[in-house]
Amino acid sequence: MVYRTHLTNTASVANSQGDDRLFAPSAERNSKPIINLIKRIAPKSGEALEIASGTGQHIIKMALALPYLSWLPSEVDEKRLKSITAWIKNENLQNIKSPVYLDATETGWAQNIPDYDFILLVNLLHLISWNETKTLLSELSKALKRNGVALIYGPFMRNGQLTSEGDHNFHNSLIQTDPDIGYKNDLDVQKLFFNSGLLLLETVEMPANNLACILQKNN
Ligand SMILES: C[S@@+](CC[C@H](N)C(=O)[O-])C[C@H]1O[C@@H](n2cnc3c(N)ncnc32)[C@H](O)[C@@H]1O
Repeated sequence: MVYRTHLTNTASVANSQGDDRLFAPSAERNSKPIINLIKRIAPKSGEALEIASGTGQHIIKMALALPYLSWLPSEVDEKRLKSITAWIKNENLQNIKSPVYLDATETGWAQNIPDYDFILLVNLLHLISWNETKTLLSELSKALKRNGVALIYGPFMRNGQLTSEGDHNFHNSLIQTDPDIGYKNDLDVQKLFFNSGLLLLETVEMPANNLACILQKNN
């Protein structure tokens, strides 16, 4: 996989807090609706993995809001791994493990970790290619326990269409940077869920025209 560092500034804004903690305004904005949804759909005990944890803001809030789950953050970017560590230290929470390096588009990552009851992925699929999306979903499925639940959140095309001006502009800015990436079509991704052994339990419309796909490992 190609780790697309050149996207960091446009698609994944994160400002310094004066120490290793980074702050992403988007993560602050979307955290409440995402966490409210997770409270409803996640198991009430067990192990949870977050893929592409970014700055670490989400996992801190989730660990506080869902203390009955034990959380593992993961990232591919060294600065963000440091940021997650700094947020955890700052909050002194017992139910978050130290973050691990995880390239979610690399074949085989699921073999190297235990299986999870819950997996969260926020705002990554539009930043990777279709082939990388296939690998990611196949590995995510392998990393879930039987009947485990996953939540995949982000911007998507609906039935092949970009449905707002903001989405149109963002998708075009992404494909100008790299023609292999950009918004995925909801219907194509749904087929991929099925082919990866993931049952789509529910699709939830979220603020700012994002979608949340709730999945269950069905074999
Ligand atoms: C838009 S940010 C979203 C971060 C966080 N989930 C959030 O919503 O605030 C995308 C994140 O994906 C990470 N990332 C990019 N490629 C990745 C990969 N192949 N595997 C895992 N994480 C990746 C980036 O380092 C970045 O932190």
